[in-house]
Amino acid sequence: MTNIGFGIDVGGSGIKGARVDLDSGEFIGDRIKILTPQPATPDAVADTIKEILSRAEWDGPVGITLPSVVREQRALSAANIDDAWIGTDLQALFAQHLGAEREVAVLNDADAAGLAEAQFGNPKAREGAVILLTLGTGIGSAYLIDGTLCPNTELGHLIVDGKEAEHLASSAAKDREELSYTKWAKRVTKVLREYERLFWPSLFIVGGGISRKADKWVPKLNIDTPVVPAELRNRAGIVGAAMAAQQQLRP
Ligand code: BGC
Repeated sequence: MTNIGFGIDVGGSGIKGARVDLDSGEFIGDRIKILTPQPATPDAVADTIKEILSRAEWDGPVGITLPSVVREQRALSAANIDDAWIGTDLQALFAQHLGAEREVAVLNDADAAGLAEAQFGNPKAREGAVILLTLGTGIGSAYLIDGTLCPNTELGHLIVDGKEAEHLASSAAKDREELSYTKWAKRVTKVLREYERLFWPSLFIVGGGISRKADKWVPKLNIDTPVVPAELRNRAGIVGAAMAAQQQLRP
């Protein structure tokens, strides 16, 4: 086993990391999870990542996801994370906390999930234009063309019916407004119809915790494009992060 990487997925409630077998996309050993520090400032999150790496005794390259736009290794948005991230130079931050010699690749969380799904999940994710959505606190998106990622699409912020798509149809919106699957599926339909009309993908892949219950709502969607649940489930972010580090992919 030589092709091993390490990925870290930074979420609103937990920061999770694991060694990844990059030939199979499986974890090696246990996933380590530490609650996200509050406030989740860049310094506090970087210290937590350092703690995960030291518990895992991993000193190789590391991939890190953020729920943020990442361009030229700078965080440019903070929809569901601390505003202090906006403008942060991510290479400088992690060099300071993890050591200057550590190789780090940072990317958007949904983009990481898209990379992982295209490599290790549904083979259809590598055919034509595919949109992967993560439905959670927000809506994250990964846009793939023949398996190649176009980073930072941020489709969760498209305005649909006068509201940001993620305020209308994330799984947090379902919980907040106590919507039934039927009512919520109507909202997801509206959002997907808008994406259909603009991007004409050949497939939607839906991820995030609520994709585990896909049978309860995917059949209720009323759109023309096929919709399938993500296959990697909650592994996708960590695996995609490890892939980005290995491929030195630094959007
Ligand atoms: C953020 C995205 C992120 C998504 C899922 C959105 O609010 O703007 O960058 O991918 O949430 O975490």
